[in-house]
Amino acid sequence: MNYRHAFHAGNFADCLKHALLVWLLRTMQAKATPLRVLDTHAGIGRYDLSAPEAQRTGEWQGGIGRLLAAPDPALAEYVALVRQAGAPAFYPGSPALVRALLRPQDQLLACELHPEDHALLRAHFRGDPQVAVHHRDAWEALKALTPFPEKRGLVLMDPPFEQEGEFDRLAAGVALVNHRFRAAVQACWYPLKHRAPVRAFHTALKDSGVRDILAAELWLREPTDPTRLNGCGLVVVNPPWKFEAEGSAILAALLRQLGTREAGEGWAMQRVADE
Ligand SMILES: C[S@@+](CC[C@H](N)C(=O)[O-])C[C@H]1O[C@@H](n2cnc3c(N)ncnc32)[C@H](O)[C@@H]1O
Repeated sequence: MNYRHAFHAGNFADCLKHALLVWLLRTMQAKATPLRVLDTHAGIGRYDLSAPEAQRTGEWQGGIGRLLAAPDPALAEYVALVRQAGAPAFYPGSPALVRALLRPQDQLLACELHPEDHALLRAHFRGDPQVAVHHRDAWEALKALTPFPEKRGLVLMDPPFEQEGEFDRLAAGVALVNHRFRAAVQACWYPLKHRAPVRAFHTALKDSGVRDILAAELWLREPTDPTRLNGCGLVVVNPPWKFEAEGSAILAALLRQLGTREAGEGWAMQRVADE
């Protein structure tokens, strides 16, 4: 396991994933009934943007750095949460953002496999009765920790894509959760380096028989160079009503603020499987 999210925290890919995650969770909380979130690849929880890792790549400057400098109404709730978490000194990872949104009746389960990152994550949430941190493989956790007793919830899958076969594991994970816990909202991040693997991923999802899937994508340049993270996407299973329209507004705002004005940049909200 070589991937460390500390090098990438707050970059444009985090902005896409986290802005949509915040919208999803806030929308699901329109109902007062309790819900649970399972964050299968949680990272360390909070990232110091002055640390050598973040300084080395400077990726956050092209992501959250720009959003903090130029507020956009479509991103206001996400950016406000990031500020509350200590930005621009610190950037909150997915479990910290989710935790900031939990109501007293909600729960977070966060899994992290890297031993050092798991220790940092555990320390971050020590003593928090609403958060359970697991040193556990994500794919195994999907089986062990679903369905949720609350019968409502969100599963976030955010693998590092450092090993071959990650798209296949993701598609299999989505199908497994859908089979065990039909009502779950699932959100899965993926890289858009070039189009072919993403097309195959969407086809695999559709062919698995899982219904009601949308894909929200943002790319900063034509995704033709497979060695670069040209863009990324979030597949959402069982998206709440209005995700198509309001998620699109978030994507458009992200492109306005984070776009490089390189030829071929864009965003899309695409239906992968019908309701
Ligand atoms: C992209 S980062 C997660 C970032 C985090 N979700 C966020 O948005 O702030 C992926 C994380 O998954 C962890 N990881 C990799 N393989 C895993 C596995 N099989 N099970 C659980 N965690 C894993 C990595 O150590 C890394 O911290």
